[in-house]
Amino acid sequence: MAADWWQITLVVLIAGFVNPWELSALHCSFYNFCECGFRPNLNALECELARSVFGQHLACDLVVKAVKQFVETDSPTKPLVLSFHGWTGSGKTFLSSLLVKHLYKDGTRNPHVHYFSPILHFAHAQNVELYKEDLRQWIQGNLTQCSRSVFVFEEMDKMHPGIIDVLVPFLGPSWVVYGTNYRKAIFIFISNAGGDVINQVALDFWRDRKDREEIQLRHLQSAISIAVMSTPEHGFWKSQIMNQSLIDVIVPFLPLRPSHIRQCIQKEAEQQELEYEEDTVQSILNNLVYFPEDEKVFSSTGCKTVSSRVSYFL
Ligand SMILES: *[C@@H]1O[C@H](CO)[C@@H](O)[C@H](O)[C@H]1NC(C)=O
Ligand SMILES: *[C@@H]1O[C@H](CO)[C@@H](O)[C@H](O)[C@H]1NC(C)=O
Repeated sequence: MAADWWQITLVVLIAGFVNPWELSALHCSFYNFCECGFRPNLNALECELARSVFGQHLACDLVVKAVKQFVETDSPTKPLVLSFHGWTGSGKTFLSSLLVKHLYKDGTRNPHVHYFSPILHFAHAQNVELYKEDLRQWIQGNLTQCSRSVFVFEEMDKMHPGIIDVLVPFLGPSWVVYGTNYRKAIFIFISNAGGDVINQVALDFWRDRKDREEIQLRHLQSAISIAVMSTPEHGFWKSQIMNQSLIDVIVPFLPLRPSHIRQCIQKEAEQQELEYEEDTVQSILNNLVYFPEDEKVFSSTGCKTVSSRVSYFL
């Protein structure tokens, strides 16, 4: 009898004093970070990167390390800002989609992942001021709804310079943005800028007969920053984002060797459930363009056109 009384009191107490928000916070501290479907599974991410991203040891390592450190921090001091650089078809967009897939329980369908493309969202130079206001409101609105939002900016090298600076208050450590918890967000910038210097370093390693896995961030980082900041077409031109070192990690993507393209072809064929002969794979490879023209070391288009070629040839 006494026990029953005690149980009822406990239930009444909990119902009365713990509001639903606190219950869900409690739930989330058990199931780490379930805020707006945010359920990072970094082991799965690592596995999938190893299985399906070819030739990008540096990019994979840097992204996994940075994201791991970021999501394991309960209250980060600033949002995570990644900038992906490299040649067409080297896997920048692909890697970003795999990252998103393993951050949320419903992957890329999660409504808190936002993609921005200059051609789609910011097409007209005369509207820059309007775009800036829109972008600021979108970011703020979305962060108010979900502090664990991800913002992906594609083709930064086609973004009108000036627009992106409205993000500065959201990216730094010391800014107060109208009470939103913007520090848990992840920003990813993608561009081909810096691709030339990355390719040159990769080529030098190849000519010196050094392993491409020996290429480290320190061989590339400052050259990429300089290349980006000196490109007047790039969205980061004269931007305070580069200037104030608001980017946490510069992520270089290396140009791909024919052996990597072969892996892409095989994977694509498996995905499309097509049977393939070695001869056909070889003829797809022979049909691609390589550079430098005389040595033919790297593919000019990477794995970009592989999918359509596979469905055409096989
Ligand atoms: C979130 O961002 C999208 C653009 O990706 C925008 O259309 C939408 O209005 C934003 N939501 C809020 C609440 O601001
Ligand atoms: C940042 O920008 C200011 C002016 O916009 C410039 O004077 C300064 O040298 C820049 N700093 C860096 C590190 O580029």
